[in-house]
Amino acid sequence: MTRSAVRLAVIAGDGIGPEVTAEALKVLDAVQPFFASGWTVEQLPFGADRYLSTGVSISPAEMSRLGSDFDAILVGALGDPRVPGNEHARDILLGMRFKLDLYVNERPARLLDERLTPIKGKTVEDIDLVIFRENTEGLYAGIGGIFKEGMPDEITIAEELNTRRGVERIIRYAFDWAKSHGKTRVTMADKANAIPAHSLWRRVFAEVGEEYAGIRRDTRYIDAMAMDLIRTPESFQVIVTGNLFGDILSDLASTLVGGLGIAPSANRNPGRVAMFEPVHGSAPPLAGKDCANPMAAILSLAMLLETVGEQDAANAVESAVSAAVSSGAMSADLGGSLGTGAVGDWIAERIRSMADG
Ligand code: NAD
Ligand code: IPM
Ligand code: MN
Repeated sequence: MTRSAVRLAVIAGDGIGPEVTAEALKVLDAVQPFFASGWTVEQLPFGADRYLSTGVSISPAEMSRLGSDFDAILVGALGDPRVPGNEHARDILLGMRFKLDLYVNERPARLLDERLTPIKGKTVEDIDLVIFRENTEGLYAGIGGIFKEGMPDEITIAEELNTRRGVERIIRYAFDWAKSHGKTRVTMADKANAIPAHSLWRRVFAEVGEEYAGIRRDTRYIDAMAMDLIRTPESFQVIVTGNLFGDILSDLASTLVGGLGIAPSANRNPGRVAMFEPVHGSAPPLAGKDCANPMAAILSLAMLLETVGEQDAANAVESAVSAAVSSGAMSADLGGSLGTGAVGDWIAERIRSMADG
């Protein structure tokens, strides 16, 4: 079958972003023999350097082009100490999530090898979960502000926005995903005991969950959820939660499987352009040292490949990353001794040998 060419936008971004993205693109090149379709790749210059030199983070026309001219976007990371208020990263990263309405932030945490988990006695069967983070509202809605900044009577306000439509669509997405992936349990985390507004999450979770026979519903308050994720990770398959809680839980969950260096993510809304990025940030102290782990970026590329219908290519990338882990071809964060480029080379080489063999 010939599919039309996939149009990929790449935003390498700041800090280690360009280094890990270069390795993902190396892998994209290596995996070409598995493809049914051609690709076009366009690098976009959004990031701190451009913001600092021009004052523009991303223009409205550039944002709308991302939504109309591409099938997928691969992002490295955004965030730079020279922009202490992080406004360019909010414009670009949160801008894509909000303006392109990518309401699903899918963040899997799957243990590839027992040696990567710091949790005693847990196996690869025990740690295999996906967090569905609501990605377009919550405390990130930007409602509020700073009044009398720096004065003794300064006031700051941030309001949390939860709409029935927004809560319902992410909960429904989590149940649909569970159903289509043979999962039997969905857990929802909120703080309804202290924040009455969160009762909306409880009510909608019960209503929507009722439609999915055979899937067990489970709720947790976010504090107990954080504890149980460490204590009994095997009891979680699919987790659905709000924007801020999902941000925090996804860094925590990454630690169960080896850390941020190996945690990929997808930002999506079916039928629209989808955006893929590591869960990690720009790690400024690691930038330019060839020591960042590129696996999160490479596994984000695998999620991208699956999304555009290139399942064989996605499988090849995932199996090459697993092989790198079991062979010890890893960077220092995972206990290995290879640099960023060498990890990417190893994975690309492995894929080439799979394609030949
Ligand atoms: P971070 O994720 O950059 O780093 C957290 C810790 O993880 C650090 O110890 C870092 O060294 C380590 N780490 C991260 N990625 C790694 C990798 N690939 N290999 C090995 N170690 C890795 O988070 P931070 O330090 O809180 O934030 C730094 C900047 O990144 C900030 O500007 C922040 O706003 C931004 N940020 C951006 C994104 C994004 O673009 N999606 C996500 C998170 C943070
Ligand atoms: C993430 C990041 C972002 C977030 C920051 C950089 C705005 O931490 O993607 O997890 O909070 O969503
Ligand atoms: Mn985060």
